[in-house]
Amino acid sequence: MTTLLLLAHPDLEASRVNRALLKGLQSLSDLEIADLYALYPDNRIDPQAEIDRLLRADRLVLQFPLFWYSTPPLLKLWEDVVLTPMFYQEPDLGISTAGLPVLAATTTGGPSASYHPESRIGLTIDDLFASLKATTRRCGWHWQSPFAVHDVRNLDDRSLAKAVDDYRSTIVSFVTLSRISTAA
Ligand SMILES: Cc1cc2nc3c(=O)[nH]c(=O)nc-3n(C[C@H](O)[C@H](O)[C@H](O)COP(=O)(O)O)c2cc1C
Repeated sequence: MTTLLLLAHPDLEASRVNRALLKGLQSLSDLEIADLYALYPDNRIDPQAEIDRLLRADRLVLQFPLFWYSTPPLLKLWEDVVLTPMFYQEPDLGISTAGLPVLAATTTGGPSASYHPESRIGLTIDDLFASLKATTRRCGWHWQSPFAVHDVRNLDDRSLAKAVDDYRSTIVSFVTLSRISTAA
């Protein structure tokens, strides 16, 4: 039962929060981490390799820093390159992934109050990820409530350690989820 974590951080070496979150998951078994920017520094995603990786997965985690209220571009490119053949051009390819639980995990510069219906942008993180949620549902997968770490520039070491623990706990319970049957 493999959980695939797609990491999309264009500068992981300079990252404080995503790197720490990832390190906190190190000892978990059956977790395959695919660092998209390390795998594809030239942005040329190998469609077959990534389709095969996804077909091996029982669950999917999408981890990324929030960039302009969205994902970094390589994760969007992954959707285009991997999901288009699987669910549009050759829809039979994607059938075996039905029911895949999907968890988006993000980090934001803005404080949590910025991601509230009453804030200036007036949207929660779940609202912001509407297109990821729609894609998840279009693929017959199951969207879970996103995990987010906010206000990263003001996160002291103690708060970061707590975020790392919270993320690990979230992933530990996420990996207990099985594919959810879509049969009515
Ligand atoms: C190009 C770019 C766009 C960003 N856009 C947002 C944004 O829309 N909202 C936000 O809260 N933070 C934004 N940030 C801040 C990042 O989310 C923050 O730097 C990142 O989560 C830090 O994670 P790290 O320590 O793993 O690098 C942006 C940062 C960059 C570089």
